[in-house]
Amino acid sequence: MGADHGGYEMKQELTLQLRDMGFAVLDFGTDSADSVDYPDFAELVVKAIEGGEANRGILVCGSGIGMSIAANRHKGIRAALCVDKVSAELARQHNDANILVLGERLTEISTAKQCVKKFFSTEFEGGRHERRVKKLG
Ligand code: RB5
Repeated sequence: MGADHGGYEMKQELTLQLRDMGFAVLDFGTDSADSVDYPDFAELVVKAIEGGEANRGILVCGSGIGMSIAANRHKGIRAALCVDKVSAELARQHNDANILVLGERLTEISTAKQCVKKFFSTEFEGGRHERRVKKLG
């Protein structure tokens, strides 16, 4: 889990949800609503995935856009900015996304929770999608 101040409240709620779902959650902050810079938190979550400490991540900022841009600069990271449960499901099925990105200022918490549920319960379909994902590098 990682968020800036714009995504802090949502991160807190989604951390509880994931723990309720039985996942061991690593929370890389931020730890308050004080202003911080989203690339710093994207970096921590990306490093945890690259290092094998985490399998998947969630990043939250105000819009979800900054976190997406920051995370997707890294090879092997497929960060999907999702707006509903269908996009979260497709991000896993077709794109093998390893980071779910959400925008606290644009997405209702109930929708965000649906995204989390789908993202963490949907497998990659492989097949023709495997070839396309490989081309991403
Ligand atoms: C912070 O005000 C805001 O810019 C940030 O959370 C995010 O939306 C950036 O993309």
